[in-house]
Amino acid sequence: MADNRFHLAWFMNFTPDEWREPFGQGGYPWDGQFYIEMAQSLERACFDLIMIEDKLMVPETYGKSRDLSLKHAMMVPKADPAPLAVAMGMATRHLGVVATMSTMAYPPFMLARLSSTIDSLTKGRFGWNVVTSAEDLMAKNFGMDRLPPREDRYAMADEYMEVVGKLFESWEPDAVVLDRENGIYADGSKVHTVDHKGRFYQVRGPLNTVPSPQRRPVYLQAGASPRGRDFAAQHADAIVSVANGVEGMKEFRADIRARAEKIGRNPDDIKVFFCITPSLGETEAAARARYEQVTLSDNFVTDVLISISAITEIDFAQYDLDKPLPEKLVTNGESGTLDKFQQWGSGKTLRQLAADGGGGLVSSLELIGTPAQVAEKMGAAMAEVGGDGFLITTPVLRVSRRYITEIVDGLVPELQRRGLTRTEYKHQLLRDNLREF
Ligand SMILES: Cc1cc2nc3c(=O)[nH]c(=O)nc-3n(C[C@H](O)[C@H](O)[C@H](O)COP(=O)(O)O)c2cc1C
Repeated sequence: MADNRFHLAWFMNFTPDEWREPFGQGGYPWDGQFYIEMAQSLERACFDLIMIEDKLMVPETYGKSRDLSLKHAMMVPKADPAPLAVAMGMATRHLGVVATMSTMAYPPFMLARLSSTIDSLTKGRFGWNVVTSAEDLMAKNFGMDRLPPREDRYAMADEYMEVVGKLFESWEPDAVVLDRENGIYADGSKVHTVDHKGRFYQVRGPLNTVPSPQRRPVYLQAGASPRGRDFAAQHADAIVSVANGVEGMKEFRADIRARAEKIGRNPDDIKVFFCITPSLGETEAAARARYEQVTLSDNFVTDVLISISAITEIDFAQYDLDKPLPEKLVTNGESGTLDKFQQWGSGKTLRQLAADGGGGLVSSLELIGTPAQVAEKMGAAMAEVGGDGFLITTPVLRVSRRYITEIVDGLVPELQRRGLTRTEYKHQLLRDNLREF
């Protein structure tokens, strides 16, 4: 029988939950327990991985102040994803845990060491979402006045991947001997200096951790620009993308696979995950009513505009909510995200863009309905696209216990019943689970 299965992943961040609503955690998730329980729920539903978004600044673009971000708890407070990944990983047995870390923030040695440590702690289930950062506000927290242009950030990131790759390989797989009789822990002839001297980085090495179960973490990436897609096609084990409908999904996946093939990579080693934000209900009408209640609320529209302003560094408070944007906007930040948000030429007002655009996280497909309807639609879309998975999230990344339950106990059983998603984990390593189908 043909294997029609696709992968499931979830995208969230270590910020307050759906704190204004009655089914959240209450707005103070800092001991991690709420998100640990979320990870356990996702494991029950056989998700491949949970991915933690990150940014390294307090947004102050929208309305030229940080006050509204703080008032709305939008992108701030945001706690560090790496310790949360450890906590989630140690409270689960199979789920992959992925932390976002910026190549503009961590010295390569620190990132390699941290990743290696977490991969050991989670017995081979760690992933790194490779980002190059998008905001001058972030740059100012790291000794720069502004971020280098995108091209340069990707050039730095290419060298960065080379350096961490060398560090992960600096211990041969059998360097740890653990021979008690002869008193040998590690064999010095199998641990190598790296001596990297490049355009941007100088690292001597070797790494001071043992080879972790996966040697290197699973690499996730979300390049949308042509340069970003090349970077992703070269390095990523999995790519996350927001696409425009089935046609957009097909085009994106084919493009990534072609880019991979061109540089001699097996395209099947790269899994493309399409971002979706399903809205579920007992009936289609109930799901739609709920969707509209959320997305048309003033709080939601403001949340979205704070978020999109922060990641594009364009102050959307300067535009009339009830008119289309006056010009096509460009950014040195997340350009792909901006283009999807602004839908230039669509004639939609800014309020409409915010309502259906989310904080840059547009759903790749409209998925509003009962769990059975949404499962059918996901299956049909994936059959048409050819793979590889969906990245479930919410438009501004906030989650409630209710939403997690709707997905995990409502939608996923419908998917599993149709033979569309995993019902058990076959492998220990995240990379092997990703490559299973
Ligand atoms: C699903 C998804 C998740 C992303 N997560 C992050 C993140 O956590 N932190 C970040 O700085 N950028 C994040 N990005 C932005 C990407 O890293 C990238 O900058 C963006 O897709 C634009 O691509 P480009 O840099 O090639 O223009 C994400 C993008 C997508 C689509």
